[in-house]
Amino acid sequence: MSPILRVGVLASGRGSNLQALLDAGTRLDYPARVVVVVSDREDARALERATAAGVTALFLNPKDHGARTAYEAVLTKTLERHDVGLVCLAGFMRLLTPVFVRVWQGRLMNIHPSLLPAFPGLHAQRQALDHGVTVAGATVHFVDEGVDTGPIVLQAAVPVQATDTEETLAARILVEEHRIYPEAVRLFAEGRLHVAGRKVSIR
Ligand code: GAR
Repeated sequence: MSPILRVGVLASGRGSNLQALLDAGTRLDYPARVVVVVSDREDARALERATAAGVTALFLNPKDHGARTAYEAVLTKTLERHDVGLVCLAGFMRLLTPVFVRVWQGRLMNIHPSLLPAFPGLHAQRQALDHGVTVAGATVHFVDEGVDTGPIVLQAAVPVQATDTEETLAARILVEEHRIYPEAVRLFAEGRLHVAGRKVSIR
C-alpha cells in the first residue's frame, strides 16, 4: 500500500468541505489525512473545525505580508513545512497568482458549486438560478491560472426545483460537494488521476 497522502487545506469560512475531508481521514481505509489548515481569516469556522479534529490550524493574515506573492510565499513555506503532497482549496476566497499555482500545479485542487465551465466565480448558485438552468451541480478540479478553469476531476449534477431559492439549491449542492471532494482526494492519493491537457482520466 502507498503511504498516506498528507493534505493541506486552505479555507476562509464555514469549513464544511474541510469537515468532509477531516471525516474521511478518520476512516482506516482512506488514503489521505489533512495535516494542516490555513485560513486568511482569523474568525473562520474552518480553523475551529481543524482544532477540534486535532489538526494544526493557522491564521495567516494577508495584511502582514504586503504583496500577494509575499503572502503566497508564506503559504507555500507553511505547506512545505508540513510536507503536504496535495493542497485543497475549500472555500478559500482569495484569487491565487500564477506564481503560487505554478508551484503547486497538479497538486492543487478546488471545489466549486456549479457544473463548470458554467458559472465560475462568486455566487455560482445564484448565477445558475438567474440563468434558469434545470440542472446545477458541483465540480472538483485541478487549479490552473484561470478562475475555476482547470482540468475537471469529478462532477455531480443536482436538479433545480421550481421552488428553489439560492439557499435551498446551495444546500443540496453542498451534499454532493461533501461526497465528491473526499472521493477526488482519494483518487489522487491512490495515484489514479492522469492529467493530459484539459482531460483527467481515472485509472
Ligand atoms: C462551497 O460551496 C464551495 O464550493 C464554495 O464555497 C463554499 C465553501 O463552503 N467555493 C467557491 O465558491 C469557490 N469559487 P465551506 O466553507 O462550508 O466548505
